[in-house]
Amino acid sequence: MSERIKVLLSEEEVDARIQAIGEQISRDYQGKQVHLICVLKGGSFFLCELAKRITVPVSLDFMAVSSYGGGTESKGVVKIVKDLDEPIKDKDVLVVEDIVDSGRTLSYLLEMLQARGPKSLRLCTLLDKPERRVVDVNVDYTGFRIPDKFVVGYGLDYDQRYRNLPYIGVVEFDEA
Ligand code: IMP
Ligand code: MG
Repeated sequence: MSERIKVLLSEEEVDARIQAIGEQISRDYQGKQVHLICVLKGGSFFLCELAKRITVPVSLDFMAVSSYGGGTESKGVVKIVKDLDEPIKDKDVLVVEDIVDSGRTLSYLLEMLQARGPKSLRLCTLLDKPERRVVDVNVDYTGFRIPDKFVVGYGLDYDQRYRNLPYIGVVEFDEA
């Protein structure tokens, strides 16, 4: 089976939306320092573009969790592969994610981070697939709500490929 990628959100559309979210975050965190937590690897492209557009002081940290196998379906298993370098106690934390799908990863992650005593904890996601939600998650900033399609690009992968696409595309499978 081979696959093709069809553009869902162009590079221009994604960039314009990230600019708008960056401005919104800069307004909301006026007078504060925002501590961005990137969920690797998918969130990394969005994090870089977003951080460049935030005008209040920014610090960064990274963590990696695994919730998917090699395919396109969630296994519902969340494992911390790499934890944060710094404590988040009393910080204004903003988690930056590529996509909220079933919500399992984020609900687990937010609960775990909340227990570490941040001053505030919010979630920013580039993409949201609300139709797929299994576990309730409160999303504070959303780039785009998209239909229930498997997407790649801007950090999102299919079997570790396509993360580097500068746009969001839908994977279409051809029968071989
Ligand atoms: P969850 O189902 O909300 O726990 O999603 C967990 C993770 O699955 C996301 O952070 C992504 O890494 C991955 N994921 C979910 N939907 C897609 C997709 O359409 N394309 C690529 N990865 C996805
Ligand atoms: Mg992710």
